[in-house]
Amino acid sequence: MRQAGRYLPEYRELREGRDILEMCRIPELVVEATLQPLRRMDVDAAILFSDIMVPVAEMGVDVRIDPGSGPIVSEPIRSSSDAYRLRLLVDSDVEYVMEAIRLLRKELGVPLIGFSGAPFTLASYLIQGGPSRNHELTKAFMHSAPDAWARLMKTLGISVGGYLAAQVRAGVQAVQIFDSWVGALDPDDYTRFILPTMRELFDGLAPLDVPRIHFGVGTGELLALMRDAGADVVGVDWRVPLHEAWERIGFDVSIQGNLDPAVCLAQWEAVEVKALAVLRRAANRPGHIFNLGHGVLPETPVENLQRLVELVHERIERNLTGRVFEGEGS
Ligand code: CP3
Repeated sequence: MRQAGRYLPEYRELREGRDILEMCRIPELVVEATLQPLRRMDVDAAILFSDIMVPVAEMGVDVRIDPGSGPIVSEPIRSSSDAYRLRLLVDSDVEYVMEAIRLLRKELGVPLIGFSGAPFTLASYLIQGGPSRNHELTKAFMHSAPDAWARLMKTLGISVGGYLAAQVRAGVQAVQIFDSWVGALDPDDYTRFILPTMRELFDGLAPLDVPRIHFGVGTGELLALMRDAGADVVGVDWRVPLHEAWERIGFDVSIQGNLDPAVCLAQWEAVEVKALAVLRRAANRPGHIFNLGHGVLPETPVENLQRLVELVHERIERNLTGRVFEGEGS
């Protein structure tokens, strides 16, 4: 996530004088922003350049993204009737995203990951009206108006499901659902207010036959429930050591993570130590996708990321060779 971004001078140049949502609507710019990190680093997949607020903006919500803070919604959802008024996303609303995907598939030599925000994280921006530390208005809404909350989850769940299916038809080879802020909830509320929608969403995506990745931040206490939601891969941040997170998820499900992105601002030797610790905890089991535990931060030196990609490739190749060798010997 945020593979592209302000840590790259060429991105800052491309973005200059343009609003990010405006940029997301121009397929040629989306292609360029998606490809920029790949010209710098030998990563194994590309993530579509877009934003989780793109579909919401096309559902008639007035939203902008403030640099340095995040999405701002000018008329937040505050009553049940506001929630009932939100309309479903239809394919024609996001045709420009599909056009960018088709163009990208012609350019790319690695798989393309499509994505969407998850219903809770989108609902939180819609209700809070912007980034939030406590998500208090969102929590108050779900507890005091559970029927309107269920309706909001339904509208968002159907819209997200349709949006991701359209991305797969246009050519993405994996889908990732970002429930970035769901870690703010306790397991009871996750089970009651979120899990049913997430199950429906992942069940609906299963026939598309592409890997489904489910990511959240601060979700240590929710990992077993996220596994129950049904994705093929659960993405974790750095707060739980990888092997512990994997135990909570179950070793029959894949895991993505979990180097602390802030560490990438330190000198290379420190990055190396922390990256090797992640690999050691993955212990060469199949089904680990090495990644950062959250998005690349704007102050990150590009060179650290380049060396990180090289290090992970080198170690994994060595381990794989080692495993073949052991197999031959036995
Ligand atoms: O990785 C990629 O290259 C794909 C692009 C991508 C962006 N946003 C572009 C972007 C992806 C996958 C996202 C997802 C996204 N957007 C999430 C989920 C992932 C996560 O980080 O938890 C969320 C919560 C958002 C909402 C959002 N958009 C935030 C919180 C911000 C940061 C605001 C800031 O300036 O600090 C954005 C802006 C944004 N979206 C940037 C990028 C590259 C920042 C750079 C810019 O302003 O141009």
